[in-house]
Amino acid sequence: MNDSQDREQWASRTGFILATVGSAVGLGNVWRFPTIVARSGGGAFLLLYLVIVLGVGIPLMMSELAMGRRSQRGVVGAFRDLSPGTGWWGAGLVAPLAVFLIASYYSVIAGWTLIFTLLSAAGGLSGLGSDGLTELFAHLTTDTLLPVYGQGAFLILASIIVFYGVSAGIERWGRVLTPGIVVLLLVLLGRVLLLEGGLEGAVWFLTPNFADMSFDVALDALGQVFFSFSLGMGAVLTYGSYLSRRDDIPVNSLIISLADVGIAILAGLVVISALFAFGIEAEAGFGLVFIALPAVFNTLPGAVFWSTVFFLSLSFAAMTSVISFLEVLNALLIEEMGWSRPRAVVTVGVSCFFAGIPSALSEGLMRHVRILGWDIMGFTDMLTSNLILPLSGLLTTVFVAWIWGTRAAGAEVFLGVRRSGAIPLWSFIMKYIAPLALTYILIAGLLS
Ligand code: PFF
Repeated sequence: MNDSQDREQWASRTGFILATVGSAVGLGNVWRFPTIVARSGGGAFLLLYLVIVLGVGIPLMMSELAMGRRSQRGVVGAFRDLSPGTGWWGAGLVAPLAVFLIASYYSVIAGWTLIFTLLSAAGGLSGLGSDGLTELFAHLTTDTLLPVYGQGAFLILASIIVFYGVSAGIERWGRVLTPGIVVLLLVLLGRVLLLEGGLEGAVWFLTPNFADMSFDVALDALGQVFFSFSLGMGAVLTYGSYLSRRDDIPVNSLIISLADVGIAILAGLVVISALFAFGIEAEAGFGLVFIALPAVFNTLPGAVFWSTVFFLSLSFAAMTSVISFLEVLNALLIEEMGWSRPRAVVTVGVSCFFAGIPSALSEGLMRHVRILGWDIMGFTDMLTSNLILPLSGLLTTVFVAWIWGTRAAGAEVFLGVRRSGAIPLWSFIMKYIAPLALTYILIAGLLS
């Protein structure tokens, strides 16, 4: 095993947890999760989601952290060093490919949040109703330069943080931004629950409605757990490679996962309660975040404050996730190519920027470009969420359970942990449940 004495490590356990929660908490929690819950049966979906979190999400997170810590490598090196001479390192290439593709469009949406934060703070959203906001949003997304500027600015900010390395950059900012999201969302929740009808929205959100459940809903839930936990992308693995052997992987995984779920529910309560209070349908997609919610805030006293708080929390959430995308790719270049961190950071930032330009223009200049009927951004999202991520997750699971082996992997996951009753359960999930669930997502994704 590679004994890299000089590999950077997290300065503290809290810092590691906050940075990893930061990677997990992102646009996926604030915009994707509430939309899916609203259309899939409220509390019933939540129950199913929690079952999948416990049954698949947490065991997989434990495995990725263990792969990183054991190998002390990024994603390609982890596969290679844990099964030397087998060719499995090739499986480690899928995650960076997924991350690169996701980074390309995710940073564009992150750029929109940044622009909306600034616009909101400057009073540019004031007084606008749904129509005005629809027009503004359309202007932003169809413009040729604005989305590209937003994406570029966001990537520059994230790259500056990643430039400072693991503890001085990623960890330090995770400590500020991740609690920041929670505080901002709590402030918003306090406000929307006071609105007439807000509380009813919260109750609806939490009440199970089993009639809306279906296989598709289960599929959505699995996909959402993956996306939200940043699994199958090498992000958790890479962050695990900066862990020390004293850290307790099962407990940390539990804390990180529950924090991610907690923040998703918090965001869901804010979004759904606000929409309920104003009788707005929880429409899918970006309209919810960029049009419906600011329209709601604009009816409140102190509108500038509330909408700025909202977009700021969204920008923070996106920032800690983009940081983790960049770090997956940086860690690879630093290790595999022997590059210095500054060289890797600049190369990754610039490449993600250029790769994202088609997505940035997908509603504007390149809106006529269709791939299998999708616009560029939609296609990239579909390709990564429905195919590449489940594939990467499946390869990781099969690798941990059957190649590295649950004995060796389990010893790393549960290192120093006395509660060994969980080991057989974890092994069973990794060997049978998780691969079956992932094969199911993959086939369903291919057929859809
Ligand atoms: N988990 C993030 C979200 O829910 O928005 C997205 C994400 C972050 C995906 C980091 C992949 C990743 F490596």
